Amino acid sequence: MSQNQYSYLFKSGSLGNKTMPNRFVSQAMEANDGGPGGSVSEMGIERYKKLASGHWGAVVVEALSADSGSLARVNQMILTRENLEGFKFLVSEFKRIAPETILLFQVTHSGRKAVKSHSTATALYSPAEGEKLQSTNEVENIRYAIMEAALLAEEAGADGVDFKMCHGYFGCEMLRPGNVRDDKWGGSFENRSRFLRESIPEIRSRLKNPDFILGSRISVYEGIEGGCGTSGPGEILEDLEEMEKIIKIMENLGMDYVNISAGIPGTTSDITRPTAPSKNLYLHQMRYTKWAKGLTKMKVIGSAYSILKEEALSMADENIRKGYADCAGWGRQSFADPLFPEKIRQGEEVDYCTACSGCTKLMVAQKNDGCILYNDYYKNVWKNRNK
Ligand SMILES: Cc1cc2nc3c(=O)[nH]c(=O)nc-3n(C[C@H](O)[C@H](O)[C@H](O)COP(=O)(O)O)c2cc1C
Repeated sequence: MSQNQYSYLFKSGSLGNKTMPNRFVSQAMEANDGGPGGSVSEMGIERYKKLASGHWGAVVVEALSADSGSLARVNQMILTRENLEGFKFLVSEFKRIAPETILLFQVTHSGRKAVKSHSTATALYSPAEGEKLQSTNEVENIRYAIMEAALLAEEAGADGVDFKMCHGYFGCEMLRPGNVRDDKWGGSFENRSRFLRESIPEIRSRLKNPDFILGSRISVYEGIEGGCGTSGPGEILEDLEEMEKIIKIMENLGMDYVNISAGIPGTTSDITRPTAPSKNLYLHQMRYTKWAKGLTKMKVIGSAYSILKEEALSMADENIRKGYADCAGWGRQSFADPLFPEKIRQGEEVDYCTACSGCTKLMVAQKNDGCILYNDYYKNVWKNRNK
């Protein structure tokens, strides 16, 4: 296997006005290894240096919380001014190795998916017992925090931001037909898309660099009643009319790309990251990506290639050749072998992800998470996970 076999995957491309050396994207992967106060740890820096040595077209830094009061992982990194120096260091170390790779920060608020011990226990809509409905102002404050985090990403030297509107987190909850709030943040499609419509122009107007990349990762279809990709609060079947409108809004706002995903980990997990028994669900992700490509001139990144192991390369190459995607995104594979694209380029043997779910299980157990098959550190964390 070598670069010549996959000429489309290895063709340079672009996101916004920035060139990328190839179409391999390392998707955001939380590793739950932040330092005190959500700072960037040495371990985090080492992970991203490894990814830099893989010379991916783009690397999306894992979900960084914009809000210290609502974390999905107890050691999640938090993108605040207090932690800025660490993020600057992460970017400079990464760019020293891979100046050509586009480096994006994924910005998030965990919403309902925050762990109880690290959550303000508020809900965007339909609060469960023990939860409080977020006030209109609280939602506005989350919006300010997310906008602030995007500006900090620019200050840290990242090339752009990937707004997390996928996988059941706050940005995704906001868009859902099931978001039945009765204030300006819920109910009508106009209200549910307000967060996006108001925030992007405001961020653009405050950015210093006009080439700073703005994109978002969406779950085209979540597979829950009233979820994204359905037609109403009581509907579960796929209906993509609203998600089509979201993509068009993103394009009209001048966003640079849409990063396609689906499902909600922990709820409809197999849609997000197929495992051996559900392998063929990857086809839905390819279908959503092709669908999105047909709707927009923004760049479109696909997901969920890891389950295909080495076959993913020809699939991704073909998708790009046929105009079904601009880039292909790997999640678990980037944990299994951070050097993946570079090894293919050099014709070297790759450590392929077997979709064993070890990384997911460690993440759910709130441990440092990574590949338990090929990486000795995580092998040990796995062995000692119950101690
Ligand atoms: C351990 C783990 C951490 C993840 N962290 C993130 C994250 O921070 N942001 C995100 O958008 N998706 C996250 N995902 C989803 C992946 O980016 C990806 O969409 C998913 O694993 C499917 O792609 P794959 O089949 O190539 O792994 C995570 C998945 C796993 C297994």
